[in-house]
Amino acid sequence: MTNPNRLRIGLLGFGTVGQAFTRLVLKERGRLLRDHALDLEVVAIGNRRIDEKRAGWAGEGVRFTDDLASVATDPGVDLVVELLGGLEPARSLQTAALSAGKPVVTANKMLFAHHGEELAALAREKGVSLGLEAAVAGGIPILRALRESFAADTLTSVSGILNGTSNFILTTMEATGRSYADVLAEAQRLGYAEADPASDVEGNDAAYKLALLARMAFGTSVPVSAVRCSGITHLLPCDFEYARMLERTPRQLAVARRVGVDGALALSVSTHLVSQRSLLAKIEGPFNAVAVEGETGGTFVLSGRGAGGGPTATAVLSDVIEIARSGARPGVPPLGVHAFAPFTAASPAASVSAVALRFVVKDAPGIIASISRILAENEINIDAVFQTRGEDKAALPFVVTLEPVAGDGLARALEALAALPFHQKPPVAFPLTD
Ligand SMILES: NC(=O)c1ccc[n+]([C@@H]2O[C@H](COP(=O)([O-])OP(=O)(O)OC[C@H]3O[C@@H](n4cnc5c(N)ncnc54)[C@H](OP(=O)(O)O)[C@@H]3O)[C@@H](O)[C@H]2O)c1
Repeated sequence: MTNPNRLRIGLLGFGTVGQAFTRLVLKERGRLLRDHALDLEVVAIGNRRIDEKRAGWAGEGVRFTDDLASVATDPGVDLVVELLGGLEPARSLQTAALSAGKPVVTANKMLFAHHGEELAALAREKGVSLGLEAAVAGGIPILRALRESFAADTLTSVSGILNGTSNFILTTMEATGRSYADVLAEAQRLGYAEADPASDVEGNDAAYKLALLARMAFGTSVPVSAVRCSGITHLLPCDFEYARMLERTPRQLAVARRVGVDGALALSVSTHLVSQRSLLAKIEGPFNAVAVEGETGGTFVLSGRGAGGGPTATAVLSDVIEIARSGARPGVPPLGVHAFAPFTAASPAASVSAVALRFVVKDAPGIIASISRILAENEINIDAVFQTRGEDKAALPFVVTLEPVAGDGLARALEALAALPFHQKPPVAFPLTD
C-alpha cells in the first residue's frame, strides 16, 4: 500500500450492495478522515454491461469498466471489494486480487461456504487480509464477535434467524393469517424476496451462513452438505393457529450445536415452534438474530438488519476500515482460527428434542389409534393432542406433541407415519424450542 492512511478501493459488482457501499464511502469519507485519519476512496468499479451502470454521483475520478480482471489487479487499487455474488467469476477474481497482494473484502456467503478455506489459505500465504463480515447476517457484526470476543470461550452452540426473507414471510403469515403463496408475492413486491426465492425459502441461504458461522465458532471444516435443511414452503395458516395454542410461534432457525464430548456437530435449518417468551420470537419481519452459547459466558444474542443495501454496506465498510487501520497487514485470521479440525457429524440419535407433529387428514375412524400405534412401536411418548373445531372433514388438521425424542427414532416413526393412507398433506415435525 502506498500510504497506510489512504486506501484506493476497486469495486467488483455495482448492484444493490455495491451501490450502497459506494454511497456510504462518499457519505462517511469526511468523518473517517477527520476522526480516524483514514482516506478511503472508490477509484474503479467493474460490472458487466457497464454503460448501463455508469453513475455520475460515484465521483468524477472513478474508472468504470466491464473488464473486471483489470480492477482485481489494477496497480492503482490498494484493496478489492467483491460484491458480485455467486461462485464464478467471483472466485477467480478474488484469487487474482489476493495473488496480486491486495486485501479483499466480500459479502459472498455462497463462495465462502464452498471455498472459504482455500481463499483464507491464499490470503495467509500472500500476507494480506480477507474480510467477510457482510457475508453473514448483513449489518450484524457476528463474525468479528466470533473471531475476537468469543475466542475467549469454548462455544457449545451458534444458532439464529439467518434469513430475513423467510422471517418476513413467517411473521407476516402469523400477523395476517394469509397463505404462504400470498405473503411470498407481497415479499417480492416489497423487495424482501427475489424473483426466484428458492435459496431463501428452501433454507439454502441460511445453510451457507450456518456453515460459515459453525466453522468460525468450532474451528472445524464444516461442509455445507452437512447442514440438514428444510424450508418454509410447506407451512399452512393452521400451523400458526396451533403454535398459538402452544404459546409458541414458527421461526426458521439455523442451529449448529456441539453434541457430546468428541466435538461432533449437529447442524440444521428448519422451522421450529419457539416459545412466545423467547428473544427469537421477538425478531419480526426481515430482521436477523444470532445466539452464541459458551461454556463460561453463557448465551449472548445479537440482532439487527440482516440484509438490504445499507446495513450490508456498513459491514463491508467496517472490514475496509479494519484493514486500513491495520495498514493492510493481516491481524486475526479471517475465519477465526489458523487451522481447522476435521468435521465430525453428530449421530441423529444424539439430537433430542420435544416435537409437534402436524397432520392434515381425510377424517375417518381410527386415525389417532394408527398414529399412536406407530409412535408406541418406536418408543415415542405422546404428550398431548390438539385439534381446533375443523369444518372441512376432507382436510382436517390436528397436532400431536411428543415428549423429547431422539432424531433417529423420530425419522423412523415419520417414515412409517407418512405411509398411512389418510394424509391430505405429508406429516410435518416441528421441534419445540424455548
Ligand atoms: N442484497 C443484500 O441484502 C445482501 C445481504 C448480504 C449479502 N449480500 C451479498 O452481496 C453480494 C451482492 O449482492 P447484491 O444484492 O448487491 O446483488 P446484485 O444487486 O445482483 O448485484 C450484483 C452486481 O454484480 C454484477 N454481476 C453479477 N455477475 C457478474 C458477472 N459475471 N460479471 C460482471 N458483473 C456481474 C451484476 O450485474 P447485473 O446488474 O448486470 O446483473 C450486479 O450489478 C452477494 O454475494 C450477496 O449474497 C447481499
